[in-house]
Amino acid sequence: MTETRACPKVRPVLVFDSGIGGLTVLREARVLMPERGFVYVADDAAFPYGDWEEAPLKERIVRLFATLLEEHQPEAVIIACNTAFTLAGAALRQAFPHMRFIGTVPAIKPAAERTRSGLVSVLATPGTVKRAYTHELIQSFATRCEVNLVGSPELARMAEAFLRGETLEDAAVLGEIAPCFQEKDGQKTDIIVLACTHYPFLANLFRRLAPWPVDWLDPAEAIARQARRLVPLEMDTDHPDGPDRAVFTAGRPDFSTRRLLQGFGLAVPT
Ligand code: DGL
Repeated sequence: MTETRACPKVRPVLVFDSGIGGLTVLREARVLMPERGFVYVADDAAFPYGDWEEAPLKERIVRLFATLLEEHQPEAVIIACNTAFTLAGAALRQAFPHMRFIGTVPAIKPAAERTRSGLVSVLATPGTVKRAYTHELIQSFATRCEVNLVGSPELARMAEAFLRGETLEDAAVLGEIAPCFQEKDGQKTDIIVLACTHYPFLANLFRRLAPWPVDWLDPAEAIARQARRLVPLEMDTDHPDGPDRAVFTAGRPDFSTRRLLQGFGLAVPT
């Protein structure tokens, strides 16, 4: 007699950002977790997070997750957003103690370990540069170098526009990154931390416009490795049903965003 047993469904990993920046993390996570399905959630109704006051944003994110966890029953959640995690990471873990949350925080520790000049810049949203979490990272890991926090009011929006096919003015982009480049006592900034998941999409542009070459630190791979450590490897299961999905809190995204998501292998809501 053949034994029939229900094939356990592999629970997806939910990747979360305010917009499409978290796709930079999703692409790394997929490489390391090929057996998992993914649900990509963009809280585009509230984009950009960088402009929000802390209390209402934290409340919004925790409230949103009550619904998201119920609807998608993920195995784990990757918060692919510095602005969200540095603010609401602890509150999410407290509100949903049975869920694994993998966070994204500015890569200040690896930057401090690698810098040779001792001058490091952190390019982030205005929200992330204000966070107590970010200042604690500097106190804990980077007291022996000079950390220059640069809050860009425009780059996340610019990255979204760029990905949708718009052309960005070189001068406008340079204006946002220029404060990252510092010279002091004959030394120059040698590492710039990309502390917003949108920014790696603009890295080639940054390299071209940079006044001198620097190491642009993108933490996406490290986040994916941490997720792989925490998400059990499921071997004895079918691949999850259907393609990976994208969910946008504002509803159906525009045509160019849908094309972009399709390019990332994500089914888009109809
Ligand atoms: N991608 C987000 C981050 O990593 C922020 C973009 C926004 O301002 O919403 O910080």
